[in-house]
Amino acid sequence: MIGDLDQSVTSASMLERAIAVATEELDGLAESDVELFTLRLARWSADLVEGWDVAYGNRPDAASSLDRLVRMLSRRYRERRPVLRTLDLERILRPDWFQDPSMIGYVCYPARFAGSVAGVGRRLDYLQELRIRYLHLMPLLATRDGETDGGYAVTDYRAVDPSLGTIDDLESLCDELRQRGMSLCVDLVLNHTAAEHPWAIAASAGDPAASAMYRIFPDRTMPDRYERTLPQAFPQIAPGNFTELPDGRWVWTTFHPYQWDLDWSNPAVFIEMTDVLLDLANRGVEVFRLDAVAFMWKRLGTDCQNQPEVHDLLQALRACARIAAPAVIFKAEAIVAPDQLAAYLGVGRHHGRVSDMAYHNSLMVQFWSSLAARDTRLMVGLLRRLPRKPASTAWATYIRCHDDIGWAITEQDAAMVGWGGQAHRTFLSDFYSGAFPGTFARGELFNHVPETGDSRISGSFASLAGLEAALEAADPRLIDDAIARIRLGHALIMAWDGVPILYMGDEIGMLSDLSYADDPAHSADNRWLHRPIMDWDAVERRHRPEAIEGRIFADLRRLVDTRRSAPQFHAATPLDIVDSGDQGVLAFARRHPNGTLTGIYNFTETRRTVDASIASAEATGILFDLLSGSEVAVDRPIEMAPLGVRWLIPAAAEA
Ligand code: GLC
Repeated sequence: MIGDLDQSVTSASMLERAIAVATEELDGLAESDVELFTLRLARWSADLVEGWDVAYGNRPDAASSLDRLVRMLSRRYRERRPVLRTLDLERILRPDWFQDPSMIGYVCYPARFAGSVAGVGRRLDYLQELRIRYLHLMPLLATRDGETDGGYAVTDYRAVDPSLGTIDDLESLCDELRQRGMSLCVDLVLNHTAAEHPWAIAASAGDPAASAMYRIFPDRTMPDRYERTLPQAFPQIAPGNFTELPDGRWVWTTFHPYQWDLDWSNPAVFIEMTDVLLDLANRGVEVFRLDAVAFMWKRLGTDCQNQPEVHDLLQALRACARIAAPAVIFKAEAIVAPDQLAAYLGVGRHHGRVSDMAYHNSLMVQFWSSLAARDTRLMVGLLRRLPRKPASTAWATYIRCHDDIGWAITEQDAAMVGWGGQAHRTFLSDFYSGAFPGTFARGELFNHVPETGDSRISGSFASLAGLEAALEAADPRLIDDAIARIRLGHALIMAWDGVPILYMGDEIGMLSDLSYADDPAHSADNRWLHRPIMDWDAVERRHRPEAIEGRIFADLRRLVDTRRSAPQFHAATPLDIVDSGDQGVLAFARRHPNGTLTGIYNFTETRRTVDASIASAEATGILFDLLSGSEVAVDRPIEMAPLGVRWLIPAAAEA
């Protein structure tokens, strides 16, 4: 009790101090604008101070650094354009804007989709045809020359890479998107900078302040101690977690040697990266994909991922955006084990106070696992175990992205259904690399480690779902199956409690791109297999009903339009897994006051039936399938076509 009192006294005095600092900084601004800012400061200061204290509370410069932070927030608020301030107000009035069923996401590389940032602006009609309202452009900030890890090695966070355009192009694109009701998402690479970033260059030259931005050690003593418990991000293409500098010091480099991990225990890092975020927000960026967030805090003797401080830092960062640019939301990229995932949307004291969105890595992995095994038990067990997410948040649901698929399935997970973890992971890698007898998939192993047998998978959605092999065999039945698997996957991400994010090219079934091997900047990293250049000729075929592109595109449009029309798909509507009675079939319920929606997914290539009682017909006693547009009898088992999907609601709820 006394502790609580102390805490609130501290928060109150810190708030008073923050308001004084802000008022000074905002001098000259209209009184009502100053008042609005201080109101937000008051509203979110507890989130900010609590997170700040955990990360920096025991440093002598904690309070003065917080002053510096508040000054920066005030400055960024002051320079925010009127159109964005209006957006801030709109979003405060409608905080669930991103949870709406009409939110459909799309992700692409600006260069590969349209040549440049300005080029993307010329393709917006196409995206609008797909009803996209959320556009994630892959890394577009200035990067180093040569290998860039797909742009995740930033040299200047305030400039667009010259090969893609200028920061003004980005601002114009944001304006254009906003007018069309689309939100731009960009990556904020906050775990590391490029080795060629000015801080890293100064650190290499021995500058102490710049060195303190990174985790640099005088010799191998500490790196060796850390390495004992550290996993490796890219064991094959970039082994080890530390890189030697010319002067004999060692810098922490979780990913590639040219990506230097920032030291987030230094408040200067927090202030600088928050400043970068708000600078981009003031250009019009609305969603920040927080790259590799799990790695932001290090602790000796651990795997240095998902440390509790990561969530405190995210809470403080989230509060900063809420204070200075409330139109902005965060999407956490934490590709972690299922039991660590929910924390990125906020559990315990962080509930609803961290990220607004987080990648549903488990859903993605389990889609592929169920499809290969023709068995949804592991999926059901794992997804049931996830804590319910805060109602104010949304999963980012996806089937493919620019990264490999890592089989995040532990021994304990697999044991739930009597499988061995290693055996199942190996099965999945064999299956999706095309080695498993009878597999439908074509992909490549990524970072295969012969000693442990572990590996991940690269390949496009269509190739992994069987289209590549089916086309080669010129077998219409196999082609039908592959198209049905693509529909099944898209239907899954459309119906989950989140924002579905389509990956460029999947809407027309683009196959893996084998030409990556001919490009020296890409050949060592087969994730480029599924980062193709957009095939605009194939896009032209999207309205031809007999063409593969036309079939996949039409399926997707139907799913999108149906999702938009049903309030059950709002991300705040809870999702509960239902027992389907058939291990090949997944079923779940979205319970909504307008009627429960039951999703039923057949992961097998054979016909199945499920008991009609698993779907909720409620008082009407009649079910309606939103996808087929027809009624479904409840007095006999529900028929499920091979790889079929149904979205059932009580008939009266149909309107
Ligand atoms: C994220 C990105 C991945 C990149 C890594 C390092 O996981 O998705 O592509 O290699 O971060 O930035």
